Amino acid sequence: LKCSKCAGDAVIFLPYAKTHLCERDFNAMFEKRFRATIRDFKMIKKGEHIAVALSGGKDSTVLMHLLHRLKEDLPFELVAVTIDEGIKGYRSNSLAVAEKEAKALGIEHKVFSFKDRTDMTLDGIMEKKGGKLPCSYCGVIRRYLINTASREMNADKVAVGHNLDDMAQTVMMNLMRNEPMRLARLGDPIVEEEKLIARIRPLLRSPEKEIAVYAMLNNISLHFQECPYARHAFRAHVREQLNATEERYPGTKFRILNSFLAIQPMLRRGIESAPEMKYCKTCKEPSGTEQCMFCTMLEEIKEGGAMLNK
Ligand code: FES
Ligand code: ZN
Repeated sequence: LKCSKCAGDAVIFLPYAKTHLCERDFNAMFEKRFRATIRDFKMIKKGEHIAVALSGGKDSTVLMHLLHRLKEDLPFELVAVTIDEGIKGYRSNSLAVAEKEAKALGIEHKVFSFKDRTDMTLDGIMEKKGGKLPCSYCGVIRRYLINTASREMNADKVAVGHNLDDMAQTVMMNLMRNEPMRLARLGDPIVEEEKLIARIRPLLRSPEKEIAVYAMLNNISLHFQECPYARHAFRAHVREQLNATEERYPGTKFRILNSFLAIQPMLRRGIESAPEMKYCKTCKEPSGTEQCMFCTMLEEIKEGGAMLNK
């Protein structure tokens, strides 16, 4: 099969664009879309400090490489932060990849662990909790640590590796669960606050499969193992359904993302009178409630309560 642009040998077919691309033209398209996304959403300004949340998985590793190359044309500071949740037999492998890749690019890299910050590992929490709701605990603690870690590293913004598939899945999941507030926010705070480091998602228009192909073509080493706690039954179901729909109706994931981006400003306007920002009485971080989710959760785990076991 030949490249639709230059008649060289094709390495990939993009059904949504009915296009075959050779290695060179695929790389060019992939990087151009990444840069256009940064530009369109004004994600990075000259001279800003950006922290990339680096897990060692394909998305964040590719993201770090792309950001590193972008610096040649748009000068900004780039550091990497990795959160070590304390998951035996999994995190240490991806940590090694993260360390190696950051070092190869000469990027300052720091690891922040659940253990150091909360005195517990995710494994330890799961032992206490009988293995229930790992992603809920992991999500709250990880998000909190990414925010405080990025701040400690003087970042203006934190770049996360969410790709097109993640975005489309999350939008659909929020719709199906009737979570309009979550949909309006989609991971971003409604109120601007200095202590909350803004998140950017430069890969939100990059399909997961293309990120993997880009990594392979560019010899970016990756960690392919899945988190042993990843039993998000619902997300797995939505992913499967979306992949099937995408196959029959190419471009579906892009259309979900674009619909979401079109309606999000209206959703956000609708909740502008959202509860005013408070500060957690325990840790003084910004919070919607008197005590933040992180502190409430830690208390609950230590006291063996049942906040999430409803
Ligand atoms: Fe949910 Fe690892 S804890 S995927
Ligand atoms: Zn708190």
